[in-house]
Amino acid sequence: MVSIKTKEEIEKINIAGTVVYNVLELMKTSIKPGITTEKLNEIADKYIRDNKCTPSFLNYDGYPKSVCISINDEVVHGIPGKRKIKNGDIVKVDVGACYKGYHADSARTYIVGKTTNEIKELVENTEKALYKGLSVIKEGIKLNEVSKAIESVAKEKGYGVIRELTGHGIGTVVHEDPYIFNYENDESELILKEGMTLAIEPMFSLKKRHIWMLEDGWTITTQDGSVAAHFEHTIVVTKEGYKILTGE
Ligand code: MF3
Ligand code: CO
Repeated sequence: MVSIKTKEEIEKINIAGTVVYNVLELMKTSIKPGITTEKLNEIADKYIRDNKCTPSFLNYDGYPKSVCISINDEVVHGIPGKRKIKNGDIVKVDVGACYKGYHADSARTYIVGKTTNEIKELVENTEKALYKGLSVIKEGIKLNEVSKAIESVAKEKGYGVIRELTGHGIGTVVHEDPYIFNYENDESELILKEGMTLAIEPMFSLKKRHIWMLEDGWTITTQDGSVAAHFEHTIVVTKEGYKILTGE
Protein backbone atom coordinates (compact mmCIF):
# COMPACT_ATOMS: atom_id res chain seq x y z
CA MET A 1 0.00 0.00 0.00
CA VAL A 2 1.33 3.41 -0.97
CA SER A 3 0.35 6.00 1.60
CA ILE A 4 -0.70 9.60 0.97
CA LYS A 5 0.74 12.09 3.42
CA THR A 6 -1.02 15.08 4.95
CA LYS A 7 0.38 18.60 4.74
CA GLU A 8 1.62 18.28 8.33
CA GLU A 9 3.39 14.99 7.61
CA ILE A 10 5.04 16.44 4.49
CA GLU A 11 6.21 19.40 6.55
CA LYS A 12 7.94 17.06 9.02
CA ILE A 13 9.65 15.14 6.20
CA ASN A 14 10.74 18.50 4.77
CA ILE A 15 12.24 19.59 8.12
CA ALA A 16 14.18 16.30 8.29
CA GLY A 17 15.07 16.80 4.61
CA THR A 18 16.55 20.23 5.21
CA VAL A 19 18.81 18.74 7.89
CA VAL A 20 19.85 16.00 5.44
CA TYR A 21 20.60 18.66 2.80
CA ASN A 22 22.75 20.58 5.27
CA VAL A 23 24.69 17.43 6.17
CA LEU A 24 25.40 16.77 2.49
CA GLU A 25 26.58 20.40 2.10
CA LEU A 26 28.78 19.96 5.18
CA MET A 27 30.29 16.83 3.59
CA LYS A 28 31.49 18.93 0.62
CA THR A 29 33.96 20.74 2.88
CA SER A 30 34.64 17.80 5.24
CA ILE A 31 35.62 15.19 2.65
CA LYS A 32 39.37 15.68 2.24
CA PRO A 33 42.35 13.35 1.72
CA GLY A 34 43.37 11.86 5.07
CA ILE A 35 40.03 12.08 6.89
CA THR A 36 38.57 8.74 7.95
CA THR A 37 35.03 7.73 7.03
CA GLU A 38 34.42 7.23 10.75
CA LYS A 39 35.18 10.93 11.34
CA LEU A 40 32.80 11.91 8.52
CA ASN A 41 30.13 9.75 10.16
CA GLU A 42 30.75 11.53 13.46
CA ILE A 43 30.42 14.99 11.85
CA ALA A 44 27.14 13.97 10.17
CA ASP A 45 25.74 12.34 13.33
CA LYS A 46 26.50 15.42 15.43
CA TYR A 47 24.86 17.79 12.93
CA ILE A 48 21.73 15.63 12.75
CA ARG A 49 21.37 15.45 16.55
CA ASP A 50 22.18 19.15 17.05
CA ASN A 51 19.23 19.91 14.78
CA LYS A 52 16.42 18.06 16.58
CA CYS A 53 16.63 14.93 14.44
CA THR A 54 17.91 11.39 14.83
CA PRO A 55 19.97 9.48 12.23
CA SER A 56 17.53 7.20 10.37
CA PHE A 57 20.03 4.51 9.42
CA LEU A 58 21.58 3.82 12.85
CA ASN A 59 20.26 0.41 14.00
CA TYR A 60 18.08 0.10 10.89
CA ASP A 61 18.07 -3.70 10.40
CA GLY A 62 21.14 -3.65 12.64
CA TYR A 63 23.09 -1.12 10.54
CA PRO A 64 25.90 0.03 12.88
CA LYS A 65 26.52 3.67 11.83
CA SER A 66 24.60 6.89 11.21
CA VAL A 67 25.34 7.37 7.51
CA CYS A 68 26.56 5.20 4.62
CA ILE A 69 29.88 6.05 2.94
CA SER A 70 30.80 4.05 -0.15
CA ILE A 71 34.03 4.58 -2.07
CA ASN A 72 34.91 3.87 -5.74
CA ASP A 73 33.63 0.37 -6.63
CA GLU A 74 31.44 0.38 -3.52
CA VAL A 75 27.95 1.32 -4.71
CA VAL A 76 26.00 1.86 -1.49
CA HIS A 77 25.76 0.89 2.21
CA GLY A 78 29.48 1.23 2.93
CA ILE A 79 30.05 1.25 6.70
CA PRO A 80 32.16 4.15 8.01
CA GLY A 81 35.39 2.99 9.68
CA LYS A 82 39.15 3.51 9.68
CA ARG A 83 39.49 3.86 5.91
CA LYS A 84 40.99 7.21 4.91
CA ILE A 85 39.79 9.29 1.97
CA LYS A 86 42.41 9.51 -0.80
CA ASN A 87 42.94 11.88 -3.68
CA GLY A 88 40.96 10.66 -6.70
CA ASP A 89 38.37 8.77 -4.62
CA ILE A 90 34.73 8.77 -5.68
CA VAL A 91 32.83 9.06 -2.41
CA LYS A 92 29.11 8.39 -2.04
CA VAL A 93 27.45 9.65 1.12
CA ASP A 94 23.88 8.55 1.91
CA VAL A 95 22.13 10.38 4.77
CA GLY A 96 18.78 9.83 6.49
CA ALA A 97 17.30 11.95 9.28
CA CYS A 98 14.12 11.55 11.31
CA TYR A 99 12.11 14.50 12.67
CA LYS A 100 9.18 13.75 15.01
CA GLY A 101 8.79 10.27 13.50
CA TYR A 102 9.21 11.25 9.84
CA HIS A 103 12.20 10.36 7.67
CA ALA A 104 14.00 11.98 4.74
CA ASP A 105 16.73 10.30 2.68
CA SER A 106 19.23 11.79 0.22
CA ALA A 107 22.60 10.89 -1.28
CA ARG A 108 25.33 12.48 -3.36
CA THR A 109 28.56 11.42 -5.04
CA TYR A 110 31.67 13.55 -4.42
CA ILE A 111 34.84 13.52 -6.49
CA VAL A 112 37.96 14.04 -4.35
CA GLY A 113 40.58 15.98 -6.33
CA LYS A 114 41.26 14.79 -9.89
CA THR A 115 39.71 11.86 -11.71
CA THR A 116 39.30 10.75 -15.33
CA ASN A 117 36.81 12.38 -17.71
CA GLU A 118 35.07 9.03 -17.99
CA ILE A 119 34.38 8.92 -14.25
CA LYS A 120 33.49 12.61 -14.09
CA GLU A 121 30.88 11.98 -16.79
CA LEU A 122 29.52 8.97 -14.92
CA VAL A 123 28.97 11.13 -11.84
CA GLU A 124 27.40 13.96 -13.86
CA ASN A 125 25.13 11.61 -15.76
CA THR A 126 23.94 9.78 -12.65
CA GLU A 127 22.85 13.13 -11.21
CA LYS A 128 21.30 14.01 -14.56
CA ALA A 129 19.35 10.73 -14.45
CA LEU A 130 17.95 11.64 -11.04
CA TYR A 131 16.66 14.96 -12.38
CA LYS A 132 15.39 13.35 -15.59
CA GLY A 133 13.43 10.86 -13.49
CA LEU A 134 12.05 13.67 -11.35
CA SER A 135 11.12 15.77 -14.40
CA VAL A 136 8.33 13.40 -15.49
CA ILE A 137 6.73 13.21 -12.04
CA LYS A 138 3.22 14.59 -11.49
CA GLU A 139 -0.13 13.23 -10.35
CA GLY A 140 -1.57 10.75 -12.83
CA ILE A 141 1.60 9.34 -14.42
CA LYS A 142 2.73 5.73 -14.14
CA LEU A 143 5.67 5.07 -11.84
CA ASN A 144 7.23 3.15 -14.74
CA GLU A 145 7.66 6.48 -16.57
CA VAL A 146 10.08 7.58 -13.84
CA SER A 147 12.00 4.30 -14.10
CA LYS A 148 12.19 4.61 -17.89
CA ALA A 149 13.43 8.21 -17.74
CA ILE A 150 16.22 7.25 -15.33
CA GLU A 151 17.22 4.21 -17.40
CA SER A 152 17.32 6.18 -20.66
CA VAL A 153 20.34 8.18 -19.44
CA ALA A 154 22.27 5.01 -18.56
CA LYS A 155 21.36 3.35 -21.86
CA GLU A 156 22.61 6.29 -23.87
CA LYS A 157 25.99 6.10 -22.12
CA GLY A 158 26.27 2.32 -21.75
CA TYR A 159 26.40 2.39 -17.96
CA GLY A 160 25.32 -0.50 -15.76
CA VAL A 161 22.02 0.05 -13.94
CA ILE A 162 22.06 -1.63 -10.53
CA ARG A 163 18.91 -3.76 -10.40
CA GLU A 164 18.98 -5.28 -6.93
CA LEU A 165 18.59 -1.92 -5.18
CA THR A 166 15.80 0.56 -5.79
CA GLY A 167 14.24 3.83 -4.73
CA HIS A 168 11.30 3.62 -2.37
CA GLY A 169 8.40 5.30 -0.65
CA ILE A 170 9.37 7.03 2.60
CA GLY A 171 7.59 8.42 5.66
CA THR A 172 7.18 6.94 9.14
CA VAL A 173 9.74 4.34 8.09
CA VAL A 174 12.71 4.75 5.74
CA HIS A 175 11.48 2.14 3.27
CA GLU A 176 7.77 2.15 2.40
CA ASP A 177 5.93 0.96 -0.69
CA PRO A 178 6.49 1.26 -3.60
CA TYR A 179 9.80 -0.04 -4.93
CA ILE A 180 11.09 2.43 -7.52
CA PHE A 181 13.21 0.58 -10.06
CA ASN A 182 15.90 2.38 -12.03
CA TYR A 183 14.99 0.44 -15.17
CA GLU A 184 11.79 -0.15 -17.13
CA ASN A 185 9.70 -2.93 -15.60
CA ASP A 186 6.17 -4.26 -15.56
CA GLU A 187 5.83 -4.01 -11.80
CA SER A 188 5.59 -0.21 -11.85
CA GLU A 189 1.94 -0.01 -12.92
CA LEU A 190 1.25 2.26 -9.96
CA ILE A 191 -0.30 5.65 -10.79
CA LEU A 192 1.26 8.51 -8.83
CA LYS A 193 -0.99 10.64 -6.63
CA GLU A 194 -0.55 13.99 -4.92
CA GLY A 195 0.91 13.52 -1.43
CA MET A 196 2.99 10.40 -2.15
CA THR A 197 6.49 10.85 -0.72
CA LEU A 198 9.20 9.02 -2.64
CA ALA A 199 12.97 8.58 -2.52
CA ILE A 200 14.30 8.43 -6.08
CA GLU A 201 17.86 7.08 -6.31
CA PRO A 202 19.66 6.06 -9.50
CA MET A 203 22.76 3.87 -8.98
CA PHE A 204 24.94 3.45 -12.08
CA SER A 205 28.25 1.69 -12.65
CA LEU A 206 30.79 2.57 -15.32
CA LYS A 207 30.80 -0.94 -16.82
CA LYS A 208 28.79 -4.01 -15.77
CA ARG A 209 25.74 -3.83 -13.52
CA HIS A 210 26.46 -6.92 -11.40
CA ILE A 211 27.12 -6.50 -7.69
CA TRP A 212 28.45 -8.37 -4.64
CA MET A 213 27.75 -7.91 -0.98
CA LEU A 214 30.89 -7.87 1.16
CA GLU A 215 31.31 -10.10 4.21
CA ASP A 216 30.31 -7.24 6.50
CA GLY A 217 26.76 -7.99 5.34
CA TRP A 218 26.17 -4.42 4.11
CA THR A 219 28.68 -3.00 1.64
CA ILE A 220 27.58 -3.43 -1.97
CA THR A 221 30.36 -3.37 -4.61
CA THR A 222 30.47 -3.87 -8.35
CA GLN A 223 31.68 -7.34 -9.36
CA ASP A 224 33.97 -6.01 -12.07
CA GLY A 225 35.52 -3.37 -9.81
CA SER A 226 34.20 -0.49 -11.92
CA VAL A 227 33.35 2.79 -10.23
CA ALA A 228 29.74 3.49 -9.27
CA ALA A 229 27.77 6.69 -8.66
CA HIS A 230 24.60 7.36 -6.65
CA PHE A 231 22.32 10.38 -6.22
CA GLU A 232 19.09 10.50 -4.25
CA HIS A 233 16.36 12.98 -3.28
CA THR A 234 13.19 12.61 -1.25
CA ILE A 235 10.27 14.31 -3.04
CA VAL A 236 6.52 14.75 -2.74
CA VAL A 237 4.25 14.28 -5.75
CA THR A 238 2.04 17.32 -6.50
CA LYS A 239 -0.81 17.94 -8.99
CA GLU A 240 1.51 19.72 -11.41
CA GLY A 241 4.83 18.07 -10.65
CA TYR A 242 6.89 17.43 -7.53
CA LYS A 243 8.66 19.22 -4.73
CA ILE A 244 12.12 18.23 -3.48
CA LEU A 245 12.01 17.77 0.31
CA THR A 246 15.78 17.25 0.70
CA GLY A 247 16.73 20.58 -0.89
CA GLU A 248 17.96 23.88 0.47
N1 MF3 B 1 19.53 5.30 2.04
C1 MF3 B 1 19.50 3.89 1.99
C2 MF3 B 1 18.47 3.57 1.01
O1 MF3 B 1 17.39 3.55 0.91
C3 MF3 B 1 19.12 3.28 3.25
C4 MF3 B 1 20.27 2.80 3.96
S1 MF3 B 1 19.70 1.72 5.07
C5 MF3 B 1 20.99 1.32 5.99
O2 MF3 B 1 18.63 3.54 0.08
F1 MF3 B 1 20.57 0.47 6.80
F2 MF3 B 1 21.96 0.88 5.24
F3 MF3 B 1 21.41 2.35 6.63
CO1 CO C 1 16.95 5.62 -0.12
